[in-house]
Amino acid sequence: MDTDIGTTFLAQLVTTDAGRQHMLSISVDAEEGDEGHIFEQLADRVEDPKMKQIVERHRDDEVRHAQLFRGCLSRLGLEMQAIPDELKIVHQIAAVTGGFDDPIETSGDVVAAYAMLLAIEERGVERFPLIADAFRSVDPETADVYLRVARDERGHVNYCESIGRHHAGDDATWRTALAEARAIEEVAFLGVGLANLTYCTERGWVDLTEAVGAA
Ligand SMILES: [Fe+2]
Ligand SMILES: [Fe+2]
Repeated sequence: MDTDIGTTFLAQLVTTDAGRQHMLSISVDAEEGDEGHIFEQLADRVEDPKMKQIVERHRDDEVRHAQLFRGCLSRLGLEMQAIPDELKIVHQIAAVTGGFDDPIETSGDVVAAYAMLLAIEERGVERFPLIADAFRSVDPETADVYLRVARDERGHVNYCESIGRHHAGDDATWRTALAEARAIEEVAFLGVGLANLTYCTERGWVDLTEAVGAA
């Protein structure tokens, strides 16, 4: 989605209760979307005690993020909505990679998992401030929550970088894994974005006819 169209989409979406409910439900779902219990597996596989602590802190942060977004829903008097699979980034990535069900056993598995987590975290760092901007005029408290979570996601990018790089053994191996993960995430992100646009348009929450015509 073009950035301007993406901005228009978000601005329209948060003007209604249904749209706010949808955006926040997607956010809760994404934060809770620990498919295949990846953090448990990583905590088992990562041997260095300090790194293991980082894995656990990262997992706990994501649980807290989900609670923060759930808190926004309840403050607004809205219920968490079930999110269809095609709107879930983790589901779309699994469709490309074969899923998160494969056990994490080797250093290579740890590298691949952290490369993918990093790509997902980077997307949060990029997107959450834009979502915060959209919420700013209609619900500043929710806007602040998105900014707060974005700050944590920046820290998570660093966690992923240090643990992934360590297990890769050398820069070239890590960079290759990261490039593959970013390419997969990009395709999945575009797929989810288009599916979400269709979903929200069908429900009358957004109408991008003019924005698309002007692009
Ligand atoms: Fe998060
Ligand atoms: Fe994160």
